[in-house]
Amino acid sequence: MAFGEKVYWDNRMAFVLAAIGSAIGLGNIWRFPYICYKYGGGAFLVAYIIALIIAGLPLLILEFSLGQKIGGSAPTSIGKVSKKFAWLGWMAIIVGFFITTYYAVIMSWAANYLVHSLSLAWGDDPRTFFYTNVLGLSDGIFKIGSPRIPLLIGLVVVWAWIILSIWKGAKTVSKVVYVTVTLPWLILLILVIGGLTLPGAFKGIAYYLTPNWSALLNPELWQAAFTQVFFSLSVGFGVMIAYASFLPPKSDIVNNAFIIGLSDAATAFVGGFAVFSALGYYAQIQGVSVAEVMKSGPELAFVTYPAIINHLPLGPLVGVLFFVMLLTLAIDSAFSLVEAVVAGVMETFGTNRTKTNIAVGILAFLIGIIYTTTAGLYWLDVVDYYMSYFALFAVAFLEAVLVGWLFDTEKLRRQINETSLVHIGRWWVISVRIIVPLAALVLLVLTIGGRIKSAYGGYPRTAELIAGWIPILFAIVLGVLLGKSTAKMLQKE
Ligand code: PHE
Repeated sequence: MAFGEKVYWDNRMAFVLAAIGSAIGLGNIWRFPYICYKYGGGAFLVAYIIALIIAGLPLLILEFSLGQKIGGSAPTSIGKVSKKFAWLGWMAIIVGFFITTYYAVIMSWAANYLVHSLSLAWGDDPRTFFYTNVLGLSDGIFKIGSPRIPLLIGLVVVWAWIILSIWKGAKTVSKVVYVTVTLPWLILLILVIGGLTLPGAFKGIAYYLTPNWSALLNPELWQAAFTQVFFSLSVGFGVMIAYASFLPPKSDIVNNAFIIGLSDAATAFVGGFAVFSALGYYAQIQGVSVAEVMKSGPELAFVTYPAIINHLPLGPLVGVLFFVMLLTLAIDSAFSLVEAVVAGVMETFGTNRTKTNIAVGILAFLIGIIYTTTAGLYWLDVVDYYMSYFALFAVAFLEAVLVGWLFDTEKLRRQINETSLVHIGRWWVISVRIIVPLAALVLLVLTIGGRIKSAYGGYPRTAELIAGWIPILFAIVLGVLLGKSTAKMLQKE
């Protein structure tokens, strides 16, 4: 086979950290706290944990076993399950590739803000600063304008960082993650402790966690819980499959999956304390309610947090810590997506690692330029929605059906148990065959239904077509073409 020399993780710890690094990312600090508050606070946590146990962890175990037991990156391992479906592995990593194109741009914003923190450059009006000075946001998705030079420079730096982090694949990642996973945790802890000492902090926390049990009857809450679990675990993009393929034979799977899944959930939960304590403080000094300062997405990190920093002692230091945290949280997620692509290409085409790595990086960088333009935020928003929800559910559904129904899942379960400290029971088979596909299918149908009714975010339908449907179609068509090569490669084996 065209593997060249097989590279493994330095040790088990390196794998666990790398997988945790991929799982914890912007989703934990931005999305989770906001979604948790929106869907009933403490009640959402219950739904989240249930979704994690009945669908998230089984899918994670499935992806680990695909990579480690069946062997290879997403196209190879899925191709080994059924040659006809190698395209699915390609689709997963092509979608992941699109995600990195904009994930790196958000990191470029954070890199710019790291510099701005030193002088608190946003001044008294962080909102205008973000939208006008930094993004130069135009008033329509088709008013594209030119790239913003500081964002472009940030993007070059981020891509150099990504490419170097996976230079020798798992070997380099094994070293890098000791810093890029532990450092953001350490900073998060500092921000939580600092945050909780601020006046008004507990009002924010109460807002975050006060359970509204009746919310559990709302189907939307369950939809949000499953969505968050899937996205946060980095499943459905071929990342966890590729990472597990660098594990030596006989490695533990189940215990590792539990450690990784629970660390991810815990990081999100703790992240909420950092975010909401600061929001509680800000609400108090502004004399408004927490609801009024509550924002999700870009606003939270690039408008609200800078506004809060203005009022803190040691503001520039807090700013630097915060943006270093965002950058180090995001980098392992970004390079895990790239590594999944690089591993996939190398296995099927026998290409050289360095060249593949650089080529993938440059291509993603070039596509990313669109998000550095004055309409960039709009395009980023649409692509994000279609890739991280829609495509993810489609892949998760097909992956679980394929392995669950066309493969001897019972045998796979025994193989997993042979090398795992904790054994999985028949519940795992039931989850892979029924619960995961059902959950993913329902999410998929709800998403499509919603989009038939109205375009995402009120954007024009043509924009939705260009940034949503066409990339997905592209991922399928290119996937099918490349899948043929993978099937041929496997034939020769
Ligand atoms: N799990 C990451 C987050 O929560 C995002 C991600 C998705 C990273 C898929 C890699 C692959 O931010």
